[in-house]
Amino acid sequence: MIQIKTKEEIALMKKAGEIVYLTHKHLIPYIKEGITTKELDKLAEEFILKSNAIPSFKNYNGYPSSICTSINEEVVHGIPSNRTLKNGDIISIDIGACYKGYHGDSAWSYKVGNISSEKEYLLKHTELALYEGLKQVKEGNYLNDIGTAIEKYAHSHNLGVVRELVGHGVGKKLHEEPDVPNYNIRKKGPLLKEGMTIAIEPMLNLGTHKVYIKDDDWTIVTGDNKPSAHFEHTVVVTKDGYEILTKKG
Ligand code: MF3
Ligand code: CO
Repeated sequence: MIQIKTKEEIALMKKAGEIVYLTHKHLIPYIKEGITTKELDKLAEEFILKSNAIPSFKNYNGYPSSICTSINEEVVHGIPSNRTLKNGDIISIDIGACYKGYHGDSAWSYKVGNISSEKEYLLKHTELALYEGLKQVKEGNYLNDIGTAIEKYAHSHNLGVVRELVGHGVGKKLHEEPDVPNYNIRKKGPLLKEGMTIAIEPMLNLGTHKVYIKDDDWTIVTGDNKPSAHFEHTVVVTKDGYEILTKKG
């Protein structure tokens, strides 16, 4: 069952989303050569707790950290460690926060110092692909309109679309119905209705769409070791469009 949130629930999700947004902003000055991903995790965790929220990912299905830090060919679910960021890396940082029982979820990919023009291209077009998907969000459109638009945009820019991981409903639980694929599933799927809250999160690759999971049982990496990017927002469906919840309120 896809839940429709009340006004009161959406207000709490806005607060959760704003905390996620502000955590990203808090990390930005630290995303520099030499910092470890563990240090970024600690900064994020402290910021979320200070904001009267709880990191959504910590202990989720046994996940050991508060954020996901995925570097270069790592697609998602990279576990913070003593690895240091290097000039020329890209890093996808995925953050979730739970405020008064409601979750916000948002990922952005960042550059570390100077990056190749290929990586610039990947970051730019993955973010734009998210916005292409968002353009389809409004009451009366179908769920499959979102993934179809993302896939079309990605393929027209020669980027691989990861299929094994998808966006999702979000609310009292981090992952709720429905799944929100980033590709055309060739059936309309549910109608979008005002008050649905979903996380849309294209993961696009410079090379093959194929991915595999590493021995740590979490980190997803590209099949050809080429870079991958990830942009995600939590949004609420409205009568004539959507409102991004993971932004400044
Ligand atoms: N934003 C990711 C998702 O929507 C978060 C992964 S949660 C983890 O699935 F805890 F499993 F890492
Ligand atoms: Co998500």
